[in-house]
Amino acid sequence: MGDTKRVGILTSGGDCAGLNPTIRAVVLRAVEHYGWEVIGIQQATHGLLKDPPAAVTLQPQQMSPLLTAGGTMLGTTNKGNPFAFPMPDGTLIDRSEDMIAGYRKLGLDALIGIGGDGSIAILRKLAQQGNWNLVGIPKTIDNDVGVTERSVGFDTAVNIATEALDRLQFTAASHSRVIILEVMGRDAGHIAISAGIAGGADIILIPEIPYTIENVCAKIKERQSKGKNYSLIIVAEAVRTEGGDPLTHTDGLGECRLGGIGQYLSEQICSRHVAETRVTVLGHVQRGGMPSPSDRLIGAAFGVAAVDLIAESQFDQMVTWQNRQVMSVPIVDAIAHYRAVDPTGTLVKTARGLGIYLGD
Ligand code: F6P
Repeated sequence: MGDTKRVGILTSGGDCAGLNPTIRAVVLRAVEHYGWEVIGIQQATHGLLKDPPAAVTLQPQQMSPLLTAGGTMLGTTNKGNPFAFPMPDGTLIDRSEDMIAGYRKLGLDALIGIGGDGSIAILRKLAQQGNWNLVGIPKTIDNDVGVTERSVGFDTAVNIATEALDRLQFTAASHSRVIILEVMGRDAGHIAISAGIAGGADIILIPEIPYTIENVCAKIKERQSKGKNYSLIIVAEAVRTEGGDPLTHTDGLGECRLGGIGQYLSEQICSRHVAETRVTVLGHVQRGGMPSPSDRLIGAAFGVAAVDLIAESQFDQMVTWQNRQVMSVPIVDAIAHYRAVDPTGTLVKTARGLGIYLGD
């Protein structure tokens, strides 16, 4: 590589707040500090399948509105694994070589891939096959990427879920109801436990800790016996029925989606005549809107650090947030360790210390 580099950047997987500030940081650092060129690849790796590849040169003067903008200016997708790419006739084919050809056409010296654990694992496989110089930045509202304590998007999602509990408390109290808030978290309960503590939930259910309906009802009754006429429950979408069945439904495209645990709990509580219940499913509201200051900050720190790794020719690395600072680890280590809520960790102890029912 010469002194002037041409660096690609893409966002992959579900969007979240904080992606645009991360892109902004990459562009400011790479263009203004190093004098490099930054090429934004559109719709994740799908942009590489177009001929010519769907990509634009990103300029610092375009970056100002990005600090406060939700979503991703580059577009993204959480579909279309290059190694099992869905074709219109329903078959799955390996399109990895087509993507590698697209990457070559762009003449890139390195690629910054912003994604969750699944996307980063796929990008690494492509990088190894295509000999790309890859640096990863973790993002996901689920906050479940290994090694890093924080991923871009998590803080905003927790803020939104906490605000939802703040609002639901008043209506629950006014009507003497139990209100159940179902939040995202495909495999992990990080959003539920953080927002649950911050938003004063009485019951927090996460996939990492089993629960019983009997104990959920007992907690509501205990509150009633103390004159507390309402209860707030926050539940992660990945929580299963008491018997261990996943709650999923098939969407119009035949894909399996999580959802329904809130309704299930509502029916269980109601049918035992414990309280009147209502359910709020927060859904994609948690991914949208203005990034929180903390997500802007972490996106900025990750963006700058990712560019600096390229300057130091340190590839196959993912930036991480550990012990109050940005570090980096080999991508292989990050994707090897899925990060669930630690059932013996501080947040679980805190919730229990506050008298919140958390299962078990
Ligand atoms: O992984 C992020 C996430 O928001 C999960 O919390 C959720 O289950 C999933 O993506 C929803 O994906 P989609 O955008 O395809 O509905």
